[in-house]
Amino acid sequence: MTMYKNLPRPTVFAHRGASAYAPENTLASFRLAVQQNADAIELDAKLSADGHIVVIHDQTVERTTDGKGLVQDLPLAALKELDAGRTYDQAFRGERIPTLSEVFEAVGQQTFINIELKNYAAPANALPEKVAALVRKHNMVHRVLFSSFNPIALHRIHKLLPKTPICLLSIPGLAGAWARSPLGRWVPHQALNSAVRDLTKGLIARKQNNGYRVYVYTVNNPEQISRFLKWGVDGIFTDDPPLARRTIKAETR
Ligand code: G3P
Ligand code: MG
Repeated sequence: MTMYKNLPRPTVFAHRGASAYAPENTLASFRLAVQQNADAIELDAKLSADGHIVVIHDQTVERTTDGKGLVQDLPLAALKELDAGRTYDQAFRGERIPTLSEVFEAVGQQTFINIELKNYAAPANALPEKVAALVRKHNMVHRVLFSSFNPIALHRIHKLLPKTPICLLSIPGLAGAWARSPLGRWVPHQALNSAVRDLTKGLIARKQNNGYRVYVYTVNNPEQISRFLKWGVDGIFTDDPPLARRTIKAETR
């Protein structure tokens, strides 16, 4: 397994889609990210009560929809009744929580997709196996990357799809220090995804010398983006793909 050669570097990952301009983790935000020339989209995958892979960040639906409750307690039909657009802006009224399958159908052939395995509330559930099966079904084996803060989920999906690149997410601060250290080698991965606060020039150099790419999440500030680019970062997760593009252009001029 190696990182995709045709994934441009530095890579602009649209974090939860173009989430500075459209409601996060909706088809509207993913389509917009593609229009805005992001190199890849990032999304958060978890299971509904009846085992469908849905794309939503939080464990509950409250912040991003007009509903109430835990995603893992709601079946897909109930999740589909919720409006995932109007709490962001009335202009997006009617947007729904998408399934991963719907995202593949909408933009799967137009971009790379970083699927964050977000089974943190139920770390041993079948999310990795279900995602792997869906990726195969939709012929997306060479268009997706997996990431997670959950190392077990990454091990399990790597067994099923050994050629698909993996990004190890490091938890901000001390709790994620192991992932940024040589101990991280315990998890199969090609890229380390570091939080802004933990990223140093030295960390980038050390990881790159050991053959890893280094990505940083989540950066919406042009000065920070410039600094990380000067340090040689391989990719940026941003809510604002046009801002990242402009900054990369200015830095590489
Ligand atoms: O992959 C980077 C980022 O998505 C991880 O944090 O909470 O935005 O999913 P979060
Ligand atoms: Mg995420």
